[in-house]
Amino acid sequence: MKGNKIKLLAFYAFCLGLWPMGSEAANPEVFKPRVPSDQIEEARTWKNPFPSTADNIEKGKTLFHGKAFCVTCHGIDGKGLGEIPGLVGKLPRNFTDKAWQATRMDGELLWILKNGSPGTVMAPFIPLVLSEDEAWHVILYVRSFGK
Ligand code: HEC
Repeated sequence: MKGNKIKLLAFYAFCLGLWPMGSEAANPEVFKPRVPSDQIEEARTWKNPFPSTADNIEKGKTLFHGKAFCVTCHGIDGKGLGEIPGLVGKLPRNFTDKAWQATRMDGELLWILKNGSPGTVMAPFIPLVLSEDEAWHVILYVRSFGK
């Protein structure tokens, strides 16, 4: 009996240890819309005016790694860094998650880049860091992680 309790505690400790690394991909909370319900219909009508060409994706990549510093939280591989020291709350999105890619329309991603994801460290980037046209290029790059 006692041995089992210790095993159980060890199991909990193990799960807690894994939590910061493994939760993003498996977490159903990730699929809930981030755009408020009174704005989501409009946001979903916003279409990316730029085609997903290699050139445009490359432009987005340069911004992602450069002045928009997305890479500092979302990682070089787009999987999202686990815990960011000093930052609490939700983990950066894993862009390689195909199920997440499929639930979001481009307009919802632009809304996030305009408004941030309220209550998280995902901040607004338009217009201070990115123009809307630049943001659409970054979105093409974000989409490329899902392919
Ligand atoms: C300071 C860290 C940080 C930086 C820098 C950052 N993000 Fe995020 N991002 C996050 C976090 C944390 C979340 C998860 C927010 C949530 O769960 O609502 C997130 C979520 C997202 C989402 C998903 C929202 C959704 O609908 O699920 C997108 C898209 C995104 N970021 C794009 C970007 C882009 C593009 C950049 C660069 C312009 C960027 N992020 C920079 C931390 C960051």
